[in-house]
Amino acid sequence: MKNITVIGAGTMGNGITHAFAQKGYQVIMVDISQDSLDNAMKTIEKNLDRMLTKEKISLDQKNETLNNISLSTSLENSVLDCDLVVEAATENVDLKLKIFNELDLLCPEKTILASNTSSISITKIAHQTKRKDKIIGMHFMNPVPIMKLVEVIKGKETSKEVTKTIMELSKSLGKIPVEVNDAPGFVANRILMPMINEAILTLEENVSGVLEIDTVMILGMSHPMGPLHLADFIGLDVCLSILDVMHKGFNNDKYLASQLLLKMVKDGNLGIKSGKGFYDYSDGPRNKKVSSEFIK
Ligand SMILES: NC(=O)c1ccc[n+]([C@@H]2O[C@H](COP(=O)([O-])OP(=O)(O)OC[C@H]3O[C@@H](n4cnc5c(N)ncnc54)[C@H](O)[C@@H]3O)[C@@H](O)[C@H]2O)c1
Repeated sequence: MKNITVIGAGTMGNGITHAFAQKGYQVIMVDISQDSLDNAMKTIEKNLDRMLTKEKISLDQKNETLNNISLSTSLENSVLDCDLVVEAATENVDLKLKIFNELDLLCPEKTILASNTSSISITKIAHQTKRKDKIIGMHFMNPVPIMKLVEVIKGKETSKEVTKTIMELSKSLGKIPVEVNDAPGFVANRILMPMINEAILTLEENVSGVLEIDTVMILGMSHPMGPLHLADFIGLDVCLSILDVMHKGFNNDKYLASQLLLKMVKDGNLGIKSGKGFYDYSDGPRNKKVSSEFIK
């Protein structure tokens, strides 16, 4: 494994690119939007600078990491000699199926195709390709350079050899991989998203306020951040997409997204990435305050 192509330069794509490049892999980051690519590079540089200030990396390591990254808006030219593709494009079933169909046609036979999807069936994705044994889920956590877990999802046809390769590769990034089977939401989001949705319902039903709900979970359950803040961090559109996949996948209303979540996504209040969600981030992500509509 040497050449990695990362598809999508959003919240996750830039983190995944950073994690691989810092460990010496050659990474091409691909996005349909040049703006996303430029913003992703700015984020990676900012995060490397923070690590440099904290003396976690040297100036040489920062420069080597940046030199290991190239950018492209052309999928075709970015996969010619890649060993692994990690797809981290928008959480949308049709989009992912289309991307994997294209990847299967464009990539060399040896290439393993991984998806960072939060919830979509790896087996279903694999069925878009003629290399079902080489399709796997590689679910990184946000923020990728810091979070240790990689949820490694085996589709029905994923080979043992490919699973082993991805487990070893994750370890080479300094991560701790955990193997799971394919089911809507896998393990992480199957447990997390109902909790986030319930926190939003608690707010919607005026049981308590934004800060109060987050404080209960931080102090009462020892969570490092409250569920509403975490939802902003993940992206409310991403949370909604994951709940929809689980709702359809299990055909169970317990995964039905709350009206408030639907409204916030419709209004474009997506959390940190749009500057506003349950909290207002107009003074930067570290200076959050409760959004005006939730102040009583
Ligand atoms: N946000 C999280 O905390 C989180 C955590 C784990 C996994 N994920 C998963 O990672 C994936 C990406 O999520 P995100 O939060 O980074 O989304 P995002 O909205 O921040 O970024 C998505 C990027 O994909 C790009 N894109 C869309 N179509 C494309 C295409 N055809 N080719 C190339 N790029 C394309 C968009 O331009 C955008 O830059 C999703 O599957 C999501 O479920 C997200």
